[in-house]
Amino acid sequence: MMEAVSRITEAGGERRIIAPSVLSADLMRLARDIDSVSKGGADWVHLDIMDGHFVPNLSFGPSLAKAIRGYTDLPVDTHLMLDNPQDFVEPFAKAGADLITVHLEAIEGPGLLEKIAGLGVRAGLSLRPDRPVEDLKPFLRYVDLVLIMTVFPGFGGQGFLPGSAERIAEARRLIAACGRKIWLEVDGGINKETAAAACRAGADAFVAGNAVFGEKSPAEAVRNLRSSIN
Ligand code: DX5
Ligand code: ZN
Repeated sequence: MMEAVSRITEAGGERRIIAPSVLSADLMRLARDIDSVSKGGADWVHLDIMDGHFVPNLSFGPSLAKAIRGYTDLPVDTHLMLDNPQDFVEPFAKAGADLITVHLEAIEGPGLLEKIAGLGVRAGLSLRPDRPVEDLKPFLRYVDLVLIMTVFPGFGGQGFLPGSAERIAEARRLIAACGRKIWLEVDGGINKETAAAACRAGADAFVAGNAVFGEKSPAEAVRNLRSSIN
């Protein structure tokens, strides 16, 4: 298989990342919505992949990742909320995912993260909001991104969980201590207010579904979000 080469840069630059989640986009006008967020200055497209087991919802597959990859220059940031991520890393890499995030709850050890990197794709690791952030520590040397869930995964439009800012700050401390350049992404209930709080706590990548695609102009929503994290 042709080695994928991720378009996602190493963390640590000045620019903070806005990654609209297509889970909340108008799926009958997805190209229009992607054009809009791109015009508004979005950095990545966030693709929430759900299997109906790991989370009580079912969403998309590699074919949508392929379609989006073929349509936009924005990197595809894929969030696998799957019981068996090991079965889907290669199909999403082949589809053109630039970053593949798996959940700590669904892996045995670092092997799958190494496999993602071996495919030329950036590797991310996420965990549910009720899992100690400390559990990430042994895996930080294998990842380019940590995704702190600020809702229980499965649905867009939920509220930013209390205690999330503390978890983000703890993740930032762990990343600083490990000395590697790792994105700290947040996902769930992110809007202008919660993005500002998450940014203050140390996040530098922001997934937003409803706060972007629930607005009349997703482009304007991205610009507003950007103004709250600069
Ligand atoms: C997991 C999904 C959602 C989604 C963001 O549930 O990952 O968190 O991306 O949705 P909003 O921004 O609408 O909470
Ligand atoms: Zn997500």
